[in-house]
Amino acid sequence: MCGIVGIVGVKPVAERLVDALKRLEYRGYDSAGVATIHDNKLDRRRAEGKLFNLETKLAGEPLPGLIGIAHTRWATHGVPNETNAHPHFVDGVAVVHNGIIENFAEIKEELGAEGAIFVTQTDTEVVAQLLAKYRRQGLGRREGMHEMLRHVTGAYALAVIFEDDPSTIMAARSGPPLAVGYGDGEMFLGSDAIALSPFTNRIAYLQDGDWAVLGRDGAQIFDLAGNRVERPIQISSATAYMIDKGNHRHFMEKEIYEQPEVISHALSHYVDFAEQKVRPVDAGIDFANLRGLAISACGTAYLAGLVGKYWFERYARLPVEIDVASEFRYREMPLSRDQAALFISQSGETADTLASLRYCKDNGLKIGAVVNVKESTIAREADAVFPILAGPEIGVASTKAFTCQLAVLASLAVSAGRARGTLSEADEKQLVHSLIEMPRIMSKVINAVQPQIESLSRDLSKFKDVLYLGRGTSYPLALEGALKLKEISYIHAEGYAAGELKHGPIALIDENMPVIVIAPFDRFFEKTVSNMQEVAARGGRIIFITDEKGAAASKLETMATIVLPEVAEIISPMIYSIPIQLLAYHTAVFMGTDVDQPRNLAKSVTVE
Ligand code: AGP
Repeated sequence: MCGIVGIVGVKPVAERLVDALKRLEYRGYDSAGVATIHDNKLDRRRAEGKLFNLETKLAGEPLPGLIGIAHTRWATHGVPNETNAHPHFVDGVAVVHNGIIENFAEIKEELGAEGAIFVTQTDTEVVAQLLAKYRRQGLGRREGMHEMLRHVTGAYALAVIFEDDPSTIMAARSGPPLAVGYGDGEMFLGSDAIALSPFTNRIAYLQDGDWAVLGRDGAQIFDLAGNRVERPIQISSATAYMIDKGNHRHFMEKEIYEQPEVISHALSHYVDFAEQKVRPVDAGIDFANLRGLAISACGTAYLAGLVGKYWFERYARLPVEIDVASEFRYREMPLSRDQAALFISQSGETADTLASLRYCKDNGLKIGAVVNVKESTIAREADAVFPILAGPEIGVASTKAFTCQLAVLASLAVSAGRARGTLSEADEKQLVHSLIEMPRIMSKVINAVQPQIESLSRDLSKFKDVLYLGRGTSYPLALEGALKLKEISYIHAEGYAAGELKHGPIALIDENMPVIVIAPFDRFFEKTVSNMQEVAARGGRIIFITDEKGAAASKLETMATIVLPEVAEIISPMIYSIPIQLLAYHTAVFMGTDVDQPRNLAKSVTVE
């Protein structure tokens, strides 16, 4: 996903803009650029690849100026090269854009017929071309901006500067987030508060349909109809220290190690550690009177929801309909007002998840949002917000957000069980006690298994295909383990319900495809062991993730057995996440891939 920054300042901006882009690198990108105005002249530097290439250009050809905009591009239209890199210039207008202008082709055709010359393959260029056209027609900058916004459709976060006005940045938002930062005599614009954290913590978030005029003394914000609107200035908690790696090689490693701490923080919001009871949850969702719950999300967030399904159905006897958001939003699922819908999203900006939320809202359901960004669009459009409090997650592969989502979902399932009378006070006390214990156990597990997994990952990195198996809540973990491995090591991996092995995947089993079996010594253990025997009988190589009892009970020879402490069933998904995260991480490190920014991936997919 692209990143946008802008500064209208009182001291040079080019280096500060590039520094801000570095804090957006986690979003994924393939080119970058910066534009400034100096002596009433627009100028820019752009480069393909990583920011280092842009910095090298700037070192050789410095870019003066007290106002500028900059961009990291994750290509949607047009190859990732310098020509297509933003900022785009047309006749003294410079534009950077995150999102997709859906009607760009017809606008391009319309402007081309009027003689406009296009120099890029991007959708964004039509924005600059339209603004230049309106300037030529004598419209003022604000009128031209307003006219352009009435012309384009699609998802956009935009920043615009005009060569003949070195005191103003124009901005607009419909879909991808955009934050306005308030400084002392300077104003800032960024895709999120993290980008602006070294400049200011006074942040106002533009809402869908807003556009803004930033000058050194403040911002004027308008709605699409052109009426002035006020957006509250909040104090952002995303400060610079939260986004450095500390003594870790990668953000992903840091975030794996952070999990015990951030989960404790998240749990304290949902359970009373002293009373060992759940706290009252946001009354926006009345679990006591629900006939059913729909859950929808994407990627790892979806897999957290899949674990949550087991918990809501088991502890609250609440039927759950779950689907990936890209399917959910088009299924036209029959819904009724005595259902609620829960949307899980680390970024709170995922386009498919947001579209599914809006589908349910249009059908009159109460909406819950399990998010890591409280100011996000999904949070703002929900009736009840359940923050996961994981802190900024920079690594594209989600780790601490996943386990914090699980902790929140587990707490909500217990709350729902109490509200629906399906859990006694004693049940609640026992389940909450396990949740409270979980971060301490997790911390021990991380340190205990790290050396063995690091060594095992060296072997795993030599394979081309890997199969993960699990039953019960270990089945979504098998899917998550496969997703983690494939998305950062690029090794093909599949997760499967262990009971499905004989229905197809067993045809794949041979010594060239390790089978990672996730199986605590629980009520499914015996059945999973028989799956392992089927694998072993065909020369398959097993990596067994279990607990002391499981290791003792299984007599099978394995490629490796990772032994975890015996834990209560409700916390096993969080505890067993550790070995699958570490396995993926260390394998990717051995493969030499870009662990924090894997190829082709973005941290938040704000376009369909
Ligand atoms: C997680 O490892 C992936 N990077 C990806 O699947 C992610 O979980 C998905 O894109 C959903 O993002 P969200 O939680 O911000 O909505």
